Amino acid sequence: MEGSEFIKSIREKASKRNLKVAFPDAEDVRTLVASRTLIDEKIAVPVLVGSKEKINEIALQNNLKVNDIEIVEPLVSPLKEEFAKVLFEKRKAKGMTLEEAKETILSPLYFAGILLTKGYVSAVVGGNVSSTGDVIKSAIHTVGIAEGIETVSSYFIMVLKDRMICFADCAVVPQPTDVQLSDIAITTAKNFQSVTGLEPKVAMLSFSTKGSAKHPDVDKVISATNLVKEKAKDLLVDGEMQADAALIESIAKRKCKGSPVAGKANVLIFPDLDAGNIGYKLVERLANALAVGPIVQGLNKPYCDLSRGCSSDDMVNVASICLLMA
Ligand SMILES: CC(C)(COP(=O)(O)OP(=O)(O)OC[C@H]1O[C@@H](n2cnc3c(N)ncnc32)[C@H](O)[C@@H]1OP(=O)(O)O)[C@@H](O)C(=O)NCCC(=O)NCCS
Repeated sequence: MEGSEFIKSIREKASKRNLKVAFPDAEDVRTLVASRTLIDEKIAVPVLVGSKEKINEIALQNNLKVNDIEIVEPLVSPLKEEFAKVLFEKRKAKGMTLEEAKETILSPLYFAGILLTKGYVSAVVGGNVSSTGDVIKSAIHTVGIAEGIETVSSYFIMVLKDRMICFADCAVVPQPTDVQLSDIAITTAKNFQSVTGLEPKVAMLSFSTKGSAKHPDVDKVISATNLVKEKAKDLLVDGEMQADAALIESIAKRKCKGSPVAGKANVLIFPDLDAGNIGYKLVERLANALAVGPIVQGLNKPYCDLSRGCSSDDMVNVASICLLMA
Protein backbone atom coordinates (compact mmCIF):
# COMPACT_ATOMS: atom_id res chain seq x y z
CA MET A 1 0.00 0.00 0.00
CA GLU A 2 1.34 3.46 -0.88
CA GLY A 3 1.56 6.26 1.66
CA SER A 4 -1.39 8.33 0.42
CA GLU A 5 -3.54 5.19 0.25
CA PHE A 6 -2.63 4.44 3.86
CA ILE A 7 -4.02 7.79 5.05
CA LYS A 8 -7.17 7.25 3.02
CA SER A 9 -7.58 3.75 4.40
CA ILE A 10 -7.23 4.72 8.08
CA ARG A 11 -9.78 7.51 7.65
CA GLU A 12 -12.16 5.10 5.89
CA LYS A 13 -11.71 2.42 8.55
CA ALA A 14 -12.38 4.97 11.31
CA SER A 15 -15.48 6.29 9.54
CA LYS A 16 -17.01 2.81 9.53
CA ARG A 17 -17.04 3.06 13.35
CA ASN A 18 -17.84 6.80 13.62
CA LEU A 19 -16.93 6.92 17.35
CA LYS A 20 -16.58 9.88 19.72
CA VAL A 21 -13.16 11.48 20.23
CA ALA A 22 -12.43 14.16 22.86
CA PHE A 23 -10.01 17.04 22.23
CA PRO A 24 -8.71 18.57 25.49
CA ASP A 25 -6.66 21.23 23.68
CA ALA A 26 -9.86 22.59 22.18
CA GLU A 27 -9.13 26.32 22.42
CA ASP A 28 -7.06 26.22 19.24
CA VAL A 29 -8.20 26.91 15.69
CA ARG A 30 -6.55 23.68 14.44
CA THR A 31 -8.80 21.64 16.73
CA LEU A 32 -11.87 23.34 15.33
CA VAL A 33 -10.76 22.79 11.72
CA ALA A 34 -9.96 19.12 12.47
CA SER A 35 -13.35 18.70 14.15
CA ARG A 36 -15.10 20.09 11.07
CA THR A 37 -13.24 17.59 8.86
CA LEU A 38 -14.15 14.72 11.19
CA ILE A 39 -17.82 15.70 11.02
CA ASP A 40 -17.96 16.62 7.33
CA GLU A 41 -16.17 13.41 6.26
CA LYS A 42 -18.18 11.40 8.83
CA ILE A 43 -14.97 9.97 10.32
CA ALA A 44 -15.79 10.57 13.98
CA VAL A 45 -17.83 12.68 16.39
CA PRO A 46 -15.62 15.31 18.09
CA VAL A 47 -16.17 16.44 21.68
CA LEU A 48 -14.41 19.67 22.61
CA VAL A 49 -13.22 20.00 26.22
CA GLY A 50 -12.67 23.63 27.18
CA SER A 51 -14.29 27.03 27.59
CA LYS A 52 -17.38 27.49 25.44
CA GLU A 53 -16.79 31.25 25.33
CA LYS A 54 -13.19 30.91 24.10
CA ILE A 55 -14.07 28.20 21.56
CA ASN A 56 -16.95 30.28 20.16
CA GLU A 57 -14.68 33.33 19.94
CA ILE A 58 -12.03 31.38 17.96
CA ALA A 59 -14.74 29.96 15.71
CA LEU A 60 -16.14 33.44 15.02
CA GLN A 61 -12.69 34.90 14.26
CA ASN A 62 -12.03 32.09 11.78
CA ASN A 63 -15.46 31.84 10.28
CA LEU A 64 -15.95 28.25 11.43
CA LYS A 65 -19.21 26.60 12.38
CA VAL A 66 -19.18 24.91 15.81
CA ASN A 67 -22.83 24.96 16.85
CA ASP A 68 -23.21 21.29 15.91
CA ILE A 69 -20.21 20.24 18.07
CA GLU A 70 -20.56 19.09 21.69
CA ILE A 71 -18.54 21.28 24.06
CA VAL A 72 -17.81 20.06 27.61
CA GLU A 73 -16.68 22.68 30.12
CA PRO A 74 -14.86 21.14 33.12
CA LEU A 75 -15.37 24.31 35.19
CA VAL A 76 -19.18 24.13 35.08
CA SER A 77 -19.85 20.53 34.04
CA PRO A 78 -22.39 18.63 36.17
CA LEU A 79 -19.97 15.69 35.92
CA LYS A 80 -17.10 17.44 37.70
CA GLU A 81 -17.87 16.18 41.24
CA GLU A 82 -18.28 12.57 40.08
CA PHE A 83 -15.14 12.76 37.95
CA ALA A 84 -13.12 14.24 40.84
CA LYS A 85 -14.10 11.22 42.95
CA VAL A 86 -13.07 8.81 40.17
CA LEU A 87 -9.68 10.55 39.93
CA PHE A 88 -9.30 10.55 43.73
CA GLU A 89 -9.95 6.78 43.87
CA LYS A 90 -7.30 6.21 41.19
CA ARG A 91 -4.67 8.44 42.79
CA LYS A 92 -5.27 8.31 46.55
CA ALA A 93 -2.72 5.52 47.04
CA LYS A 94 -0.15 7.92 45.55
CA GLY A 95 -1.14 10.60 48.07
CA MET A 96 -3.73 12.66 46.17
CA THR A 97 -6.40 14.21 48.43
CA LEU A 98 -10.03 14.74 47.36
CA GLU A 99 -9.40 18.50 47.39
CA GLU A 100 -6.46 18.04 45.01
CA ALA A 101 -8.57 15.77 42.78
CA LYS A 102 -11.29 18.47 42.61
CA GLU A 103 -8.68 20.99 41.50
CA THR A 104 -6.90 18.64 39.06
CA ILE A 105 -10.08 17.50 37.32
CA LEU A 106 -10.66 21.06 36.07
CA SER A 107 -7.73 20.55 33.71
CA PRO A 108 -9.14 19.55 30.29
CA LEU A 109 -6.37 16.91 29.95
CA TYR A 110 -7.57 15.15 33.12
CA PHE A 111 -11.28 15.74 32.45
CA ALA A 112 -10.93 14.21 28.98
CA GLY A 113 -9.07 11.24 30.49
CA ILE A 114 -11.98 10.50 32.82
CA LEU A 115 -14.49 10.99 29.95
CA LEU A 116 -12.52 8.19 28.26
CA THR A 117 -12.24 6.02 31.40
CA LYS A 118 -16.00 6.24 31.94
CA GLY A 119 -16.79 5.47 28.29
CA TYR A 120 -18.30 8.84 27.31
CA VAL A 121 -15.79 8.91 24.43
CA SER A 122 -13.70 6.21 22.72
CA ALA A 123 -10.42 8.11 22.42
CA VAL A 124 -8.67 11.33 23.44
CA VAL A 125 -6.30 13.34 21.26
CA GLY A 126 -4.35 16.16 22.93
CA GLY A 127 -0.96 17.79 22.76
CA ASN A 128 -1.51 20.33 19.99
CA VAL A 129 -1.12 22.95 22.75
CA SER A 130 -0.12 21.01 25.91
CA SER A 131 3.36 19.54 26.32
CA THR A 132 3.95 15.84 25.71
CA GLY A 133 4.97 15.40 29.34
CA ASP A 134 1.63 16.85 30.57
CA VAL A 135 -0.37 14.74 28.10
CA ILE A 136 1.40 11.49 29.01
CA LYS A 137 1.14 12.10 32.76
CA SER A 138 -2.60 12.93 32.49
CA ALA A 139 -3.14 9.78 30.42
CA ILE A 140 -1.23 7.53 32.86
CA HIS A 141 -3.07 9.05 35.85
CA THR A 142 -6.55 8.72 34.31
CA VAL A 143 -6.84 5.78 31.88
CA GLY A 144 -3.80 3.98 33.34
CA ILE A 145 -1.33 1.48 31.95
CA ALA A 146 -2.50 -1.68 30.14
CA GLU A 147 -2.10 -5.01 31.85
CA GLY A 148 1.13 -6.80 31.04
CA ILE A 149 2.81 -3.56 29.92
CA GLU A 150 5.47 -1.76 31.92
CA THR A 151 6.47 0.99 29.55
CA VAL A 152 4.22 3.56 27.96
CA SER A 153 5.88 4.69 24.76
CA SER A 154 4.97 5.93 21.29
CA TYR A 155 5.46 5.33 17.61
CA PHE A 156 5.26 7.31 14.41
CA ILE A 157 4.29 5.91 11.04
CA MET A 158 6.49 7.75 8.56
CA VAL A 159 4.65 7.78 5.26
CA LEU A 160 7.12 8.09 2.36
CA LYS A 161 6.32 8.15 -1.35
CA ASP A 162 6.85 4.44 -1.87
CA ARG A 163 6.68 2.88 1.58
CA MET A 164 5.83 3.20 5.26
CA ILE A 165 8.32 2.87 8.10
CA CYS A 166 7.58 2.83 11.79
CA PHE A 167 9.83 4.82 14.18
CA ALA A 168 9.86 4.37 17.99
CA ASP A 169 10.15 5.78 20.56
CA CYS A 170 10.20 9.39 19.43
CA ALA A 171 8.15 11.08 22.14
CA VAL A 172 7.92 9.48 25.58
CA VAL A 173 10.83 7.64 27.26
CA PRO A 174 13.96 9.83 27.38
CA GLN A 175 16.59 7.22 28.30
CA PRO A 176 15.13 3.73 28.07
CA THR A 177 16.87 0.85 29.83
CA ASP A 178 17.50 -2.36 27.88
CA VAL A 179 14.28 -3.81 29.34
CA GLN A 180 12.25 -0.72 28.37
CA LEU A 181 13.79 -0.77 24.90
CA SER A 182 12.73 -4.39 24.44
CA ASP A 183 9.19 -3.48 25.60
CA ILE A 184 9.11 -0.61 23.10
CA ALA A 185 10.25 -2.90 20.25
CA ILE A 186 7.69 -5.63 20.94
CA THR A 187 4.74 -3.26 21.46
CA THR A 188 5.61 -1.19 18.41
CA ALA A 189 5.93 -4.24 16.16
CA LYS A 190 2.50 -5.47 17.28
CA ASN A 191 0.80 -2.12 16.69
CA PHE A 192 2.54 -1.55 13.34
CA GLN A 193 1.18 -4.88 12.16
CA SER A 194 -2.35 -4.20 13.37
CA VAL A 195 -2.52 -0.69 11.90
CA THR A 196 -0.83 -1.35 8.53
CA GLY A 197 -1.33 -5.09 8.00
CA LEU A 198 2.39 -5.40 7.13
CA GLU A 199 4.74 -7.95 8.69
CA PRO A 200 7.10 -6.10 11.04
CA LYS A 201 10.84 -6.41 10.46
CA VAL A 202 12.43 -4.79 13.48
CA ALA A 203 15.89 -3.18 13.49
CA MET A 204 17.41 -2.23 16.86
CA LEU A 205 19.38 0.88 15.90
CA SER A 206 22.77 1.95 17.19
CA PHE A 207 25.91 3.74 16.01
CA SER A 208 27.46 0.27 15.76
CA THR A 209 26.69 -2.70 13.51
CA LYS A 210 27.36 -6.17 14.92
CA GLY A 211 30.22 -5.16 17.18
CA SER A 212 31.83 -2.53 14.92
CA ALA A 213 32.07 -0.21 17.97
CA LYS A 214 32.39 -0.86 21.68
CA HIS A 215 30.52 1.34 24.16
CA PRO A 216 28.06 0.91 27.04
CA ASP A 217 25.31 2.45 24.82
CA VAL A 218 25.99 -0.28 22.24
CA ASP A 219 25.86 -2.94 24.97
CA LYS A 220 22.41 -1.65 25.95
CA VAL A 221 21.05 -2.18 22.43
CA ILE A 222 22.64 -5.66 22.20
CA SER A 223 21.04 -6.62 25.51
CA ALA A 224 17.64 -5.20 24.42
CA THR A 225 17.84 -7.17 21.16
CA ASN A 226 18.50 -10.39 23.06
CA LEU A 227 15.55 -9.67 25.36
CA VAL A 228 13.23 -9.13 22.37
CA LYS A 229 14.40 -12.42 20.84
CA GLU A 230 13.66 -14.21 24.13
CA LYS A 231 10.28 -12.56 24.75
CA ALA A 232 8.91 -12.56 21.17
CA LYS A 233 10.28 -15.67 19.53
CA ASP A 234 8.29 -15.31 16.28
CA LEU A 235 9.25 -11.69 15.68
CA LEU A 236 11.73 -10.83 12.91
CA VAL A 237 14.24 -8.69 14.80
CA ASP A 238 17.96 -7.99 14.66
CA GLY A 239 20.55 -5.62 16.05
CA GLU A 240 22.57 -3.81 16.97
CA MET A 241 22.80 -2.12 13.58
CA GLN A 242 23.25 1.30 12.00
CA ALA A 243 20.41 2.90 10.08
CA ASP A 244 22.06 2.33 6.68
CA ALA A 245 22.48 -1.38 7.38
CA ALA A 246 18.83 -1.52 8.44
CA LEU A 247 17.53 0.12 5.29
CA ILE A 248 19.89 -0.48 2.36
CA GLU A 249 20.17 -4.00 0.96
CA SER A 250 23.71 -3.61 -0.48
CA ILE A 251 25.07 -2.20 2.82
CA ALA A 252 23.27 -4.90 4.80
CA LYS A 253 25.04 -7.53 2.68
CA ARG A 254 28.41 -6.04 3.61
CA LYS A 255 27.82 -5.17 7.28
CA CYS A 256 25.16 -7.57 8.45
CA LYS A 257 25.23 -10.77 6.36
CA GLY A 258 22.47 -13.30 6.98
CA SER A 259 20.31 -10.93 9.02
CA PRO A 260 16.56 -11.55 8.68
CA VAL A 261 15.77 -7.83 8.73
CA ALA A 262 18.86 -5.83 7.67
CA GLY A 263 18.32 -4.04 4.37
CA LYS A 264 14.54 -4.40 4.60
CA ALA A 265 13.60 -3.18 8.08
CA ASN A 266 10.23 -1.44 8.38
CA VAL A 267 10.25 -0.89 12.17
CA LEU A 268 13.18 1.18 13.47
CA ILE A 269 13.75 1.17 17.24
CA PHE A 270 15.93 4.10 18.34
CA PRO A 271 18.29 3.71 21.32
CA ASP A 272 16.97 6.82 23.11
CA LEU A 273 14.62 9.78 22.75
CA ASP A 274 17.30 12.15 21.44
CA ALA A 275 17.92 9.84 18.49
CA GLY A 276 14.23 9.03 17.92
CA ASN A 277 12.90 12.55 18.13
CA ILE A 278 15.67 14.10 16.02
CA GLY A 279 15.47 11.20 13.56
CA TYR A 280 11.77 11.51 12.84
CA LYS A 281 11.94 15.29 12.44
CA LEU A 282 14.85 15.03 9.97
CA VAL A 283 13.00 12.50 7.83
CA GLU A 284 9.82 14.56 8.01
CA ARG A 285 11.52 17.81 7.00
CA LEU A 286 14.29 16.63 4.63
CA ALA A 287 12.57 13.71 2.94
CA ASN A 288 9.11 15.29 2.93
CA ALA A 289 7.64 12.33 4.78
CA LEU A 290 4.26 12.57 6.42
CA ALA A 291 4.79 11.82 10.13
CA VAL A 292 1.64 10.21 11.52
CA GLY A 293 1.86 10.28 15.30
CA PRO A 294 3.11 10.15 17.92
CA ILE A 295 0.69 7.33 18.66
CA VAL A 296 0.95 6.60 22.37
CA GLN A 297 0.95 2.90 23.21
CA GLY A 298 0.75 0.84 26.39
CA LEU A 299 -2.27 2.61 27.92
CA ASN A 300 -5.57 0.99 28.92
CA LYS A 301 -7.45 3.08 26.35
CA PRO A 302 -6.30 5.23 23.42
CA TYR A 303 -5.14 8.63 24.66
CA CYS A 304 -2.88 10.08 21.97
CA ASP A 305 -0.45 12.94 21.89
CA LEU A 306 0.37 15.36 19.06
CA SER A 307 3.39 17.45 18.23
CA ARG A 308 2.70 21.11 19.02
CA GLY A 309 3.74 21.86 15.43
CA CYS A 310 0.98 19.64 14.03
CA SER A 311 -1.51 20.66 11.35
CA SER A 312 -5.27 20.10 11.55
CA ASP A 313 -4.81 17.34 8.97
CA ASP A 314 -2.29 15.62 11.28
CA MET A 315 -4.95 15.81 14.00
CA VAL A 316 -7.50 14.05 11.81
CA ASN A 317 -4.97 11.30 10.97
CA VAL A 318 -3.95 10.72 14.60
CA ALA A 319 -7.60 10.75 15.72
CA SER A 320 -8.40 8.14 13.04
CA ILE A 321 -5.58 5.79 14.16
CA CYS A 322 -6.41 6.40 17.81
CA LEU A 323 -10.02 5.39 17.14
CA LEU A 324 -8.86 2.22 15.36
CA MET A 325 -7.14 1.27 18.63
CA ALA A 326 -10.42 1.78 20.58
C1 LIG B 1 6.49 10.88 30.18
C2 LIG B 1 7.10 11.70 31.28
C3 LIG B 1 6.28 12.96 31.43
C4 LIG B 1 7.09 10.99 32.60
O1 LIG B 1 7.77 11.79 33.49
P1 LIG B 1 8.05 11.39 34.98
O2 LIG B 1 8.88 12.46 35.57
O3 LIG B 1 8.51 9.97 35.04
O4 LIG B 1 6.62 11.56 35.53
P2 LIG B 1 6.14 11.18 36.94
O5 LIG B 1 7.29 10.79 37.79
O6 LIG B 1 5.23 12.25 37.41
O7 LIG B 1 5.34 9.90 36.55
C5 LIG B 1 4.00 9.82 36.47
C6 LIG B 1 3.62 8.37 36.63
O8 LIG B 1 3.77 7.70 35.41
C7 LIG B 1 4.72 6.63 35.50
N1 LIG B 1 5.46 6.68 34.27
C8 LIG B 1 6.17 7.71 33.79
N2 LIG B 1 6.65 7.40 32.58
C9 LIG B 1 6.21 6.16 32.29
C10 LIG B 1 6.37 5.29 31.18
N3 LIG B 1 7.04 5.64 30.08
N4 LIG B 1 5.77 4.08 31.22
C11 LIG B 1 5.07 3.70 32.29
N5 LIG B 1 4.89 4.48 33.37
C12 LIG B 1 5.46 5.69 33.37
C13 LIG B 1 5.52 6.93 36.72
O9 LIG B 1 6.01 5.72 37.26
C14 LIG B 1 4.48 7.60 37.60
O10 LIG B 1 3.64 6.68 38.17
P3 LIG B 1 2.94 7.01 39.58
O11 LIG B 1 2.58 8.47 39.59
O12 LIG B 1 1.76 6.13 39.58
O13 LIG B 1 4.01 6.69 40.56
C15 LIG B 1 8.57 12.06 30.95
O14 LIG B 1 9.27 10.87 30.72
C16 LIG B 1 8.74 12.99 29.82
O15 LIG B 1 8.61 14.20 29.99
N6 LIG B 1 9.09 12.46 28.64
C17 LIG B 1 9.46 13.25 27.52
C18 LIG B 1 8.29 13.81 26.87
C19 LIG B 1 8.71 14.86 25.94
O16 LIG B 1 9.02 15.98 26.33
N7 LIG B 1 8.71 14.56 24.67
C20 LIG B 1 9.05 15.51 23.70
C21 LIG B 1 9.04 14.92 22.37
S1 LIG B 1 7.49 15.04 21.54
